[in-house]
Amino acid sequence: MKRIVILISGRGSNMEALLKAKLPCEVAAVISNKADAAGLEIAKQHGVATAVISHKDFANREAFDAALAKEIDRFKPDFVVLAGFMRILTADFVNHYAGRLINIHPSLLPAYTGVDTHERALKDGVKIHGCTIHFVTADLDHGPIIIQAAVPVRQDDTAATLSARVLHEEHRVFPQAVRWLCNGNVRLNAHGRVETDRLEQRGTTLISPGLD
Ligand code: GAR
Repeated sequence: MKRIVILISGRGSNMEALLKAKLPCEVAAVISNKADAAGLEIAKQHGVATAVISHKDFANREAFDAALAKEIDRFKPDFVVLAGFMRILTADFVNHYAGRLINIHPSLLPAYTGVDTHERALKDGVKIHGCTIHFVTADLDHGPIIIQAAVPVRQDDTAATLSARVLHEEHRVFPQAVRWLCNGNVRLNAHGRVETDRLEQRGTTLISPGLD
């Protein structure tokens, strides 16, 4: 059975969705860069090993990433899953896990890379927003996309209501992506493109606001 290590920085609701999804892999550990991340408690309740590597204990990004990689590799994972891990990773770290590192991002990439995605989507008045699961490359939030979910943006949305609508979909597509990965249904090929044997034409159209 494949092994995964999940990295978190906070609440851990996406991590929890993975733990509850009965995935075809063993969650070998959950690692946080913050000792007070609420998700660590949830992981412990699920009987998963936890560890904290605080970025504040290191002089620079390179030193932190090296220590983080050392801790991750102790658990010998096949894949490393970023579930709300809020640190920018060095190219060395990313290359070390090439094709084995995925991330969830709360926007329809390549739109709204970085932070405050819901606030920025509302400000721009977009009518469709969503989330993306992608392979991580050294190009921040631009790695090859595995799956996306789109949601309508409503006229009376606030960042909180929009974020909740997106999060609901995050909890659905993230387990799906990890399941595909662990079952070998998706992979990153030598040209840096996602190869999949899933039926892409099963996707549906979202028009927002709807047609009369
Ligand atoms: C999620 O919305 C995730 O997409 C986002 O952080 C949140 C973590 O929530 N990730 C990023 O912004 C990465 N750039 P969670 O801890 O409850 O899963």
